[in-house]
Amino acid sequence: MNDTVTVTDNRTGKSYDFKILDGSRGPSVVDISSFYADTGMFTYDNGYTSTASCRSNITYIDGEKGELRYRGQEIEELAQNKSFLEVCYLLLNDDLPNKKHTKEFDLEIRHRSFLNDGLTNLFRAFPTGSHPMATLTAATAALATFHFNHLDLNDESEYQRMARRIIAKMPTIAAFAHRHSIGAAIIQPDITKSYTENFLYMMRAYPGGRMHIDIDGERTIKEIEIKALDTIFTLHADHEQNASTTAVRNVASTGAHPYVAISSGISALWGRAHGGANESVIRQLEMIGSVDRVDEFIARAKDPNDEFRLMGFGHRVYKNFDPRAKVLKELQIQLQDELQLDSNLMQIAKRIEEIALNDEYFVKRKLYPNIDFYSGIILTALQIPISMFTPIFVIGRTVGWITQWIEFKQTKGMKIARPRQLYLGK
Ligand code: CMC
Repeated sequence: MNDTVTVTDNRTGKSYDFKILDGSRGPSVVDISSFYADTGMFTYDNGYTSTASCRSNITYIDGEKGELRYRGQEIEELAQNKSFLEVCYLLLNDDLPNKKHTKEFDLEIRHRSFLNDGLTNLFRAFPTGSHPMATLTAATAALATFHFNHLDLNDESEYQRMARRIIAKMPTIAAFAHRHSIGAAIIQPDITKSYTENFLYMMRAYPGGRMHIDIDGERTIKEIEIKALDTIFTLHADHEQNASTTAVRNVASTGAHPYVAISSGISALWGRAHGGANESVIRQLEMIGSVDRVDEFIARAKDPNDEFRLMGFGHRVYKNFDPRAKVLKELQIQLQDELQLDSNLMQIAKRIEEIALNDEYFVKRKLYPNIDFYSGIILTALQIPISMFTPIFVIGRTVGWITQWIEFKQTKGMKIARPRQLYLGK
């Protein structure tokens, strides 16, 4: 069999052959890297809907089947049976950790969770009320200034250390960004606490490390809250070549520091078409306000002359269902009995979901609820402030970004990202 695709220029009748490359799963790709050299033309692919930008071994998505795997392992299985840190280890090492590795990795992450005092001072430079996502991009880029000298990015042990450091520090940076945004004193990490518990602790504790005290005594961080947030981190850990990961890889391709590459990933994630959707979902549900106004907003979402979109619906890749959303929907049901879910928001969300899943507009376009549709309601039940929803996505995704950065670094022959254009100007 001839593993090529032939493209014919119908203006000249000239034909060109391009090689087909097969992956281990998913569609084959046509290698068009010599297209310009061969034909004198560029290819055009608005939004990269048909373009593979790299070879990767990390994450696989089958959008038609609604399948997501990290290093070959199904997301449902990982979300149910593994901790987020075990998933981080899997992504970084291509294998799940044994008990000893789990313990060692966990301890290392705990000890690396502290920020240099100079960096802590940086938060004070930002105005109270600043959005934590803006602070997060700045603080992550600033982290590069503390870990720059003598950094040999060709030494694998050094960049593996960089990876573990950024995973460990991101919850601290995010929690500090939140505390600063509300004018509250920061709470330092507590190394006796697990990764996810520590984040909730830094968000919620009072100076002195005590939790809220009410008439029944001091509140604790419930196991079910830790498990729910840990699952949310796992579901966000990686998602192959999405917009923010592509931003990270593009910056990596110039040879820039990994932390500034991750800072650019955070910026890309903030937009509401991407990670910012989880914040927008709740703001939209609040704007709709009551079940009887849902129809009005569904009509607006369907109107081609109205820019209004249903937040938390649709996905570039998933065209059947988002497997992450399925896990969260089940989690939401489990939480219903144990935590206070906002019943008004839940009712509005349920009504939107019912209508959209049956309405021809959404069915025809294969628009299903995505991860952000459910994560917002769960995060609200965990009493996470809305402005922290996207930073929570960042904490989960940091491991994905740095793993993709490492893969880029280790792939021989990777080029600087430099697309072409179709020029229409003067
Ligand atoms: N509400 C109403 N109509 C929609 C929506 C929506 N949420 N999403 C897509 N459409 C329509 C769109 O108007 C278009 O219709 P037509 O064919 O008549 O022009 C059609 O569906 C295809 O949309 P598209 O914008 O070409 O699709 P895309 O693959 O470029 O965009 C998306 C994917 C996620 C950006 C988009 O669905 C969207 O804006 N959704 C809302 C934001 C959101 O929930 N984002 C979170 C994504 S999941 C988290 C993550 O991984 O980042």
